[in-house]
Amino acid sequence: MSRTGDQFHSRRRFFLHAAGTASAAGAVQHALAQTGTNATARRVIIDTDPGVDDALAIFLAIRSPELNVEALTPVAGNVPLELTLPNALRLLEIAGRTDIPVAAGAKQPLKRQLVTAAYAHGENGLGGVQFPEPKTKPVAESAPDLIRRVVRQSPGQIHLIALGPLTNLALAFLADPGLPRLIPSLTLMGGSLSGGNVSPAAEFNIYVDPEAAQMVFRAGIPTTMVGLDVTRKATLHEEDIQALESGGNPISRAAGKITRATMNRLRQSPTFTGAGPAMHDSLAVATFIDPTVVKLQDFYVEVETAGEYTAGETLGYRRAPMRKSPPMQSAQAKFEDAVFHPNAKVAMEVDRERFVQMLIGRLRK
Ligand code: RIB
Ligand code: CA
Repeated sequence: MSRTGDQFHSRRRFFLHAAGTASAAGAVQHALAQTGTNATARRVIIDTDPGVDDALAIFLAIRSPELNVEALTPVAGNVPLELTLPNALRLLEIAGRTDIPVAAGAKQPLKRQLVTAAYAHGENGLGGVQFPEPKTKPVAESAPDLIRRVVRQSPGQIHLIALGPLTNLALAFLADPGLPRLIPSLTLMGGSLSGGNVSPAAEFNIYVDPEAAQMVFRAGIPTTMVGLDVTRKATLHEEDIQALESGGNPISRAAGKITRATMNRLRQSPTFTGAGPAMHDSLAVATFIDPTVVKLQDFYVEVETAGEYTAGETLGYRRAPMRKSPPMQSAQAKFEDAVFHPNAKVAMEVDRERFVQMLIGRLRK
């Protein structure tokens, strides 16, 4: 029987998943056979607002021997902190990693009212999928305090991965201006050089707290921006969700439930395009693990904070002049171009197949 293109594609993907699973499993088993964590792995703190795609990103990080997750620092974003905090605890319980500390972060942006995205993540932030109430508790210190303590205890060793609004990072830097130079890298899901998703100009994470984002982009940390330019293409197909649902472990099954619920919600939308849930945050984690899954370009990224309609827009300058808008005639400031210096590597292309194979292969193993 000749296989239709779809059948061939889905069988090919299944074998890719199986192959990916085998190689990932081998690497992971070897690594985790050591002292529970991998001594050669890079140490990361994940700042997050779980969050449908945050959930799979956290699972991917936990399943990847290239990194050791030192802590999760939930922030208000997709849903209020009252939900992102227990969701972070739930996800670690599902993964069997309650050894990872969770520290409560900001309940609201630095200056603005909190705008959430329950329409995209379900009222509970996990696609509406009900998981048991967490038994574990957060640590006593706040997220900014934990970030400051862990970074200062190991200067130059703690990488940050930010998957939500950047309020926690900004608060840590405000409290400790010397902190950024002790942080070797920041990989963030956020921004866009090709239009927003919550407004024509702004991507959600930057939109929620533009002031925090501006501070973070100006902090001088070697920064990789994984924005909508690539994450829009990081969508799961039906067969990917089926592969998660049939996975042989609690992480895969939980990810399958969350993405199935999200796909069902998308299908009910009158504007359904056929594209499945976008794994924005997982692509940021995947880029931290293997930057060749995307193509990076140097930009100077500035965050708009004054625009009545454009606050949260990320503008990317490839070269001088870094031209601002003309000053008003009443302004004292003389118009002059700033000196160009890139402050971020921005992901501009993505190898979707490789990304999905990594994500599904590592969650399923
Ligand atoms: O715009 C996508 C981003 O906003 C993702 O991090 C998603 O989880 C939401 O926080
Ligand atoms: Ca997020």
